[in-house]
Amino acid sequence: MFGDGRIVRDGDQLIPNEQGSVESALLVSVYQGSNNLKSCQEHLDELALLVKTYGMSVADKQACPIRKFDASTYLGKGKVEELIKTAQELDVDRIIFDDEISPAQQRNLEKLFSRRVMDRTELIIGVFAQRAKTKEAHLQIDLAELRYLAPRLKRMWTHLSRQAGTSGSGAGGAYLKGVGETQIEIDRRILKKKIEELNIEIAEVKSIRATQRLSRQRSEIPIFAIVGYTNAGKSTLLNALTDAGVFVEDKLFATLDTTTRKFTLKNHQEILLIDTVGFIRKLPHLLVAAFKSTLEESIDADILLHLIDASHPQAEEQAQATHDLLKELGAENKPIIHVFNKIDKLTDPSALIRLRMNHPKNVCISALTREGFDELEQKMIEEISKQRKIVDLRIPQEDYAYVSEIRRLGKVLSQEYEENDVILKADLPFLIANKFKSFIIPKQ
Ligand code: GTP
Repeated sequence: MFGDGRIVRDGDQLIPNEQGSVESALLVSVYQGSNNLKSCQEHLDELALLVKTYGMSVADKQACPIRKFDASTYLGKGKVEELIKTAQELDVDRIIFDDEISPAQQRNLEKLFSRRVMDRTELIIGVFAQRAKTKEAHLQIDLAELRYLAPRLKRMWTHLSRQAGTSGSGAGGAYLKGVGETQIEIDRRILKKKIEELNIEIAEVKSIRATQRLSRQRSEIPIFAIVGYTNAGKSTLLNALTDAGVFVEDKLFATLDTTTRKFTLKNHQEILLIDTVGFIRKLPHLLVAAFKSTLEESIDADILLHLIDASHPQAEEQAQATHDLLKELGAENKPIIHVFNKIDKLTDPSALIRLRMNHPKNVCISALTREGFDELEQKMIEEISKQRKIVDLRIPQEDYAYVSEIRRLGKVLSQEYEENDVILKADLPFLIANKFKSFIIPKQ
């Protein structure tokens, strides 16, 4: 639910304004120091893609130089006046900021613009809300929405008071304002209760997922997670490798729910491949928290395939944003293969050379043309061969011969006897652990 109380849910819909045409937006991003203008413009391009994904049209993009932020209106007075003029001339429905702005700044700016003002957080939550498919994703986003809304209740009621005030009755406006104050208190209590209820529901869904996760761990198949910036081509890669039929679109956050597929490498090794939610620069903290459990599960994989759109002008920044998020999730030390995608549309080969230097252990592919797939599989096989697992094994008497093979190929950490069986705890290379799969004692 957003400032005007509307919840947008259906994916791919266009958001109509009061005149029945698609809502248009003026996009604003700020930069400090003239050498940051170019990246500010690139950020505006990304914001424009998010806005289009949300279902609005972009009337104009403004990169604003800034020396000092204004506590009450975010931008200085002169800049705000300039933007008000532009917004009026272009007759836009909303002004959208690339940054997070405080509830008070948002409220003040809406008064000055007489138009809806959104920030990046609200926009991304809106996009996520439209695109969520599973029950858990919906619950997590509802929770993020409510948490976003809680400090903004006053803004919503100011909206209503103003509407009442402009409809001819000044006294009515003042009266409503009083009602608004009481209503804010009631709404706060309702929100708090709803947040508590959602937390309980989420905990239930999570426990079901934890059981599924445990059964996956028991399967002893190496798990690869494809992680990366939104639109890097993660779903395209999963589809190309496994015919998974995952939704692919040139829009941001086509995938919000994880998809897992089995895949057999050319050395006949079976693996599990997980497609994950895309990362984005400045992912709102409310959403990091919301998707932490989903992301944690994905990065719990044995090996990460970090997919990077090598053809993107901000490929390095996007790779960095993904690294930062992995770090926040405590996964920076996982084995990672950097996979440079979209090499079929690469225009600047020197950019790829730089990327490869900055991210060793890499491979270049096109998920679309399948170029580089052989090398990718080779890299995956090599990486698995480096992986080790600690497993508990029960070897029956008739298979005692395997004990010496296990000693030769791995490290036996402990050995006990139970009736006629040998119980071993062994540190084994992944592929060897897989070979002795039938002897592995499942973890409780
Ligand atoms: P999110 O769900 O937003 O995280 O996106 P994603 O990383 O799953 O990307 P997706 O697979 O949906 O692809 C995004 C766009 O990039 C689609 O239009 C794909 O067709 C396109 N794409 C993916 N891989 C390639 C590639 O190797 N070459 C080219 N030219 N386009 C690609």
